[in-house]
Amino acid sequence: MTLSSRIEAVETSRTVRFTSLIEKLRAEGRRILNFAVGEPEYATPAPIVAATRAAMEDGNTRYGPVAGLAGLRSALGASFDGWGPENIIITNGSKQLLYSVFQVLLDPGDEVILPNPHWVSFSQQIRLAGGRPVLVDTLRHQLDRQAIAAAVSPATRAILVNSPNNPTGAVYPPPDLAWIARLACDRGLWVIADEAYEYFVYDGLEHRSLFVHEALRSRLVVVRSFSKSYSMTGFRVGFGAGPEGLIRALAKLQSHLTGNVCTFAQYGAMAALDLDPSVIQDWRRDLDIKREIAFDSASRLFDCIRPQGAFYLFPDISSRLQRGETAEDFAAYLLNEAGVAVVPGEAFGADRHIRISYAVPEATLVEGLERMAACLG
Ligand SMILES: Cc1ncc(COP(=O)(O)O)c(C=O)c1O
Repeated sequence: MTLSSRIEAVETSRTVRFTSLIEKLRAEGRRILNFAVGEPEYATPAPIVAATRAAMEDGNTRYGPVAGLAGLRSALGASFDGWGPENIIITNGSKQLLYSVFQVLLDPGDEVILPNPHWVSFSQQIRLAGGRPVLVDTLRHQLDRQAIAAAVSPATRAILVNSPNNPTGAVYPPPDLAWIARLACDRGLWVIADEAYEYFVYDGLEHRSLFVHEALRSRLVVVRSFSKSYSMTGFRVGFGAGPEGLIRALAKLQSHLTGNVCTFAQYGAMAALDLDPSVIQDWRRDLDIKREIAFDSASRLFDCIRPQGAFYLFPDISSRLQRGETAEDFAAYLLNEAGVAVVPGEAFGADRHIRISYAVPEATLVEGLERMAACLG
C-alpha cells in the first residue's frame, strides 16, 4: 500500500503500542500490573459526571461553536489576567491542540527546540507539520541554558517547554522559565508551554506558568488539559490560551479538522472548574505518598532522579542493561518475567531509561515494585 510520505515519516505512538501488548498478555490470562499508564487512577468526580449527563438530557447533543462553548471560554479566559474568551480555544484534548499549534505556526523546515527527553507526540507532530524537532539534552532532567541558546538557528520558530514534565517529572525553576521568556523575546521565537500537569507539583513547590512573563504574551501559547487535572482523560477536553490572532488561526484549522469538541463533555469541563479544590489537593497528597514509595524502591534498583511533578519516575537503567540490550528489550523482559508494564525510554528519546507511572493504586504500586526487585535481584 502506498501512503503519503507525511504519515510514513512518523512512528506509531509507542505508548499505544505497548498498551496493545499488555492487552494481549492479559487476554492470555496473565495478571499484569500496569505502570505504563499516563492517567490518574481516580474516578471522574461525581459533579462532573452529573453535569455531563444533565447536559445530554437537556439536549446539548448537537454541533456547538467551533472554538468552544462561550461559558467555558469565558471562565477559562478569566484565569489569564488581561486575556478573555477570545484568547481561549477548546480542543479535543491538549494533544489535538498541540497538533494544531504546529500546523498553524510551522512552515516546512522550521525548527522547534525540544528539551530531551520529551513526550512522545511532540516530535512526531512537529514532523507532521513539516517542521524539524531539534532535540536538546537536559542536564539531570533540567534545562541546559547553554545548549538551548546554542541550538537557536535562523530556522528556529519555537521552543517547547513542558513543566511539570512527562516523562521525567521535572519542574523547571522560575529563573530558568524567565530565561526562556527572555531568550524567546530577544530572538523572536514562540514559546509553547505544555502545562498539562499544572496541578501535580510536590515538595511545597507551586506551578509557575510562563504566562507570568508579560513581555512574552504576544508569542506564547499555553497548553492545558482537563484530562489529568480532573481525571477526565476520556472526555477529551483540552484548551489553549494565546494571542487572539493565533487562537483565530487555530479555530480556522479546527473548523476543517474536527469542528467543536463534544458539546456535553464541555459542560462536564465547566463543572470541573467549580469543583471543590480539596478534591485535587487530596489527589496531590495521595500522589505525593506514592511518589515517595516509588522513588524509594526504584532508586534501590536504578539510578533515579527525584521527580518534583507529574506522576512519573524516569530512571536510568544503564546499570541493568546487558551488552546490546535496549530499553525496549528491558521493558519486554520486565513485562514477561515480572508481569510489570513500564514504557521504554526510546518512546521519549532516551534509550537508557524506562518510565514508571506511580498514578496507580498503592497496593498495585507496592506489589509491582516488589515484583521488579525480585526479578532483578
Ligand atoms: C505532556 C503532555 N501533554 C499533552 C498530553 C495530552 O493529553 P490530553 O490530550 O489528554 O489533554 C499528555 C498526555 O499524556 C502529556 O503527557
